[in-house]
Amino acid sequence: MPALADAARGRLLYGGDYNPEQWPRHVWREDVRLMREAGVNLATVGVFSWARIEPQPGVRDFGWLDEVLDLLHEGGIGVCLATPTASPPPWMGARHPETLPRDAAGHTLWYGSRNQYCPSSPVYRAHALRLATDLAERYGDHPALRLWHVGNEYGTACWCDTSAAHFRRWLRQRYGTLEALNSAWGTAFWSQGYGDWAEVLPPRTAPYLVNPTQQLDFRRFTSDALLECFTAERDALAARTPHTPVTTNFMPLFAGQDGWRWAREEDVVSVDLYPDPAKGPEAGAYGALVQDLTRSQAGGGPWLLMEQASGAVNWRGVNRPKPEGLLRLWSWQAVARGADGLCFFQWRASRQGSEKFHSAMLGHAGETGRHHRRVRELGAELDRMAEVTGTRVRAEAAVLHDWDAWWASGQDGRPSALPDHAELLGAWHRALWEAHLTADLAHPETPLDGYRLVCVPQLYLLTDAAIDNLTRFVHGGGTLVTGFFTGVADADDRVREGGVDARLRALLGLRTVHEWWPLADGERVALSDGTHGTLWSEDLETEPGCAVPLRYAGGELAGRPAVTRNAAGAGTARYVSTLPEPAALRALLAGAAAEAGVRPALEGLPGGVEAVRRGELLFVLNHGREPVTVPLPAPHTDRLTGDRHTSALALPAYGVAALRRD
Ligand code: GAL
Ligand code: ZN
Repeated sequence: MPALADAARGRLLYGGDYNPEQWPRHVWREDVRLMREAGVNLATVGVFSWARIEPQPGVRDFGWLDEVLDLLHEGGIGVCLATPTASPPPWMGARHPETLPRDAAGHTLWYGSRNQYCPSSPVYRAHALRLATDLAERYGDHPALRLWHVGNEYGTACWCDTSAAHFRRWLRQRYGTLEALNSAWGTAFWSQGYGDWAEVLPPRTAPYLVNPTQQLDFRRFTSDALLECFTAERDALAARTPHTPVTTNFMPLFAGQDGWRWAREEDVVSVDLYPDPAKGPEAGAYGALVQDLTRSQAGGGPWLLMEQASGAVNWRGVNRPKPEGLLRLWSWQAVARGADGLCFFQWRASRQGSEKFHSAMLGHAGETGRHHRRVRELGAELDRMAEVTGTRVRAEAAVLHDWDAWWASGQDGRPSALPDHAELLGAWHRALWEAHLTADLAHPETPLDGYRLVCVPQLYLLTDAAIDNLTRFVHGGGTLVTGFFTGVADADDRVREGGVDARLRALLGLRTVHEWWPLADGERVALSDGTHGTLWSEDLETEPGCAVPLRYAGGELAGRPAVTRNAAGAGTARYVSTLPEPAALRALLAGAAAEAGVRPALEGLPGGVEAVRRGELLFVLNHGREPVTVPLPAPHTDRLTGDRHTSALALPAYGVAALRRD
């Protein structure tokens, strides 16, 4: 199977989306010159070129693309060639309105933007596949070709009749019989029983709450339907170019695709990442989470940052540029956490269209712009750091994450609408990040024996296999920390007997979860060590042998267990029945980590400073606006500057070092 190394060829990749169709020919030559000067070695071409390549159905206009690829090649720049299938031309919607997606209320989403296709439409699929096949045929042997980029940020959903028929086929495969579907969906409730497959629909807008398992299955189905679009194009490309890797760019921490399942189908895992520069170190923590997830999707190996912004985006209410140093910091953060390439949206800022105020590697200020200077400096620096390529980040802690649980936990009719899977994941991962601990993310069913500490921020839905997996991990000597409202539902979103699965309760030392006791927005509940819990509490009863390190100290549950710690087999399992405030959660996870023998990459780090080990290099990154001094246990050399640091490292605001032990 081809891999990122086949595209990177021993270097860190550097480049971005390149949209020459928006520019006259003479600009193309200038682009290639400027790319070379900026150290660019990869240009992603064609992402939104469908209307240009196929101006009329079946017509091909490849001439301009031939020229662009030849120019890039002459300039020594590799090409990440996209299939332009994320944005069909207007002729498709005009001639085949059934290719246009419909929302849950039946409204058509029209052309004039992008992503307007029904993933289940055979017409859309056939056109997309023909185009991918022709692209592979035409450019499969082009010497500039390094990587295929299929579609863009898959994430469309559709509730139309074609999608309904496809959904039914998918359900038949999952359940076999209508009886099995009725049982899984619990249709005895509210007179929802189906007597004929033809009656079954996607979860369309209805008078009141829609069946939760129907919604869960529709999420699963939508992810699978999109994945079929991807794999069909991938197979057409791979048949022609078996040695060229294929990717599609994920949105960061995105609910619309089962990211574990998708990643398995890619040669290269890539992601788009746009932390908000206005948010300070919190944005650094968010970046670390997305990077850790992406690396984990890539099986721990190198991945590609397919899009980042060199400055401001244009889709937030207020779009802040990156202050001096932040682009460099966040770029090296991605490399530290396993990226073997950094690309941008986009190379040259558009002068028209919806993204004309989005930053680019070459902004409206042009080649003498302050901002473009930073892009060049980064390119030069990356060019000197080929030694990092192919190396791995090793983590002794894992945070469990699962799309099924995300989808099931986000529905209506819960004890509280406030808890949000992604926010809880972020809060727990950030607590580890602030404690200077590196974590992988992992699917709850993957073997965990490589880890000492496993954290479950919240997995509302846990399969039997996942529960067995957690049990094996703890019994084998692992340290498990589990957040509230975990293990409540089975794979069909059916509440487990007793409210929380019995095997999980045994593991955690919980006799009964009497009641879930959610807190109001902004409400805090005092805990026995003087800290506070937020968002949630529970009325718990523990088994005799289970320790209770923290109790509720206020509110209706005062005196009852808040955090428990149970010895099971050779390991321990903690249950955290509230969301401790950030500092308290950090202390709790740091304590569990210390007990498990998991240490930070560097001791004595100030807040907001990140240290990650990748291969032989120790990256130290200052996310703060103040300079810091970091103690070093031994002399190191900074590979970025060549400076030697014997016992301490001084970093300016947003400073970075890539240290190698002398
Ligand atoms: C990404 C997308 C790009 C561009 C970018 C702007 O989500 O893939 O095409 O729109 O956002 O930030
Ligand atoms: Zn549809």
